[in-house]
Amino acid sequence: MQPLDDGQQRAVQAAIQAAQQAYAPYSQYHVGAALLAADGRIFTGCNVENASYPAGICAERGALAKAVSEGARDFSLVVVATQNGGSPCGICRQSLLEFSPAARVLCVTFEGLVHVDSTVAELLPFGFSPRSLI
Ligand code: THU
Repeated sequence: MQPLDDGQQRAVQAAIQAAQQAYAPYSQYHVGAALLAADGRIFTGCNVENASYPAGICAERGALAKAVSEGARDFSLVVVATQNGGSPCGICRQSLLEFSPAARVLCVTFEGLVHVDSTVAELLPFGFSPRSLI
């Protein structure tokens, strides 16, 4: 595994911390996400569930909405933190592909153990992206 630099390590810690804000009374599955933007800023998110289940949102897309609304669109790293190092769902892979196919993706446990070290494009092979519309 490629060693993590300072910014990447900060992103890992930020994702783990973000999971503490998860609102997951239905699944009890807490997720934290952190996006490291090209300018060094880190945007975090957590899953926010809803009594009307489909209205819930994943941690990754929460972080992405924050980032894009703050002017960040280019990400070098996506960190997802869960109890078991689970990887992003299909919808989140699609949302991330829109902005940063080359971004590295780290799926870590709350103890910081890396379960997945990949890229957005690798996680969604033959994905539909802005280039597909040309
Ligand atoms: N979840 C995420 O936040 N990100 C993912 O990529 C996978 C699933 C959330 C959605 C729901 O709140 C809980 O995890 C269980 O599916």
